[in-house]
Amino acid sequence: MARIIGGLSASHVPSIGGAIARGEQQTPYWKLFFDAFIPVHDWLAREKPDLAIVIYNDHGLNFFLDKMPTFAVGAAHRYDNADEGWGIPVLPSFEGDAALSWHLIESLVADEFDVTMCQEMLVDHAFTLPIKLMYPRAGAHWPIRTIPVTINSVQHPLPTAARCWKLGQAIGRALESYPKDMKIIVLGTGGLSHQLDGTRAGFINKEFDLLCLDKIVGDPEALTRYTNRQIVELAGSQGVELMTWIAMRGALQGRVSKVASTYHVPISNTGGAVMLLRNDQTPARHAAE
Ligand code: DHB
Ligand code: FE
Repeated sequence: MARIIGGLSASHVPSIGGAIARGEQQTPYWKLFFDAFIPVHDWLAREKPDLAIVIYNDHGLNFFLDKMPTFAVGAAHRYDNADEGWGIPVLPSFEGDAALSWHLIESLVADEFDVTMCQEMLVDHAFTLPIKLMYPRAGAHWPIRTIPVTINSVQHPLPTAARCWKLGQAIGRALESYPKDMKIIVLGTGGLSHQLDGTRAGFINKEFDLLCLDKIVGDPEALTRYTNRQIVELAGSQGVELMTWIAMRGALQGRVSKVASTYHVPISNTGGAVMLLRNDQTPARHAAE
């Protein structure tokens, strides 16, 4: 059976790509953020996940305001990155797993999540940079297969935190029911607090970010009780990317333990956060023991 072995959430600011391209990982500005991945690298080398479900928000590369699905799932054999205009290097293509994608989509639709299914999908910085941070030495081939899952955080109305939590739970159920042996890591990329435009441009709320980092581990449902208006007020208009973290956490069905966590402000305009959670025991495996 497939097993969800852990969850990783991380900020996905484009300037991370610029810092990598210029080799600035150990400069005072970036060191703490990049060093947050040292324990992640150790864990990945030990656990060797086969596949990453990447829950993120597309920023206009694949979907635009004319057509904006609330939730979309990739069902392609390959996902290409493309130039988004940030001036960061385009990364090598990512191998998919179309068979698992269709299992996931069938299970989600049966679970009343009527997702948009995408047999072609371009992936943006929110997908590519966290994987590059996980595997900084990968060359033309990534050591992991991937399936993109997007949550609309661009065009209002956005799904609620409670809905994203339930989406994550449905993703978790779908993955744990896949009959093929494989180890899966679930990523939630984005956040934490940031606002890129309007009168509050540059807004960061460290206190709320630290509360989210605490709640996501031990009491994630507390985060599902915020309304979208409250999340925008507390975390900024782009802070709604927190939804990706909530969905990631929903997919981890068992007890979790924190392997690594770092918070460092600012990274560009963003509360920069990284967290790795180990999924200790799923209900299915618990029952089998
Ligand atoms: C920044 C943050 C984001 O989440 C993003 O998608 C683009 C830019 C920033 O802080 O600069
Ligand atoms: Fe973003």
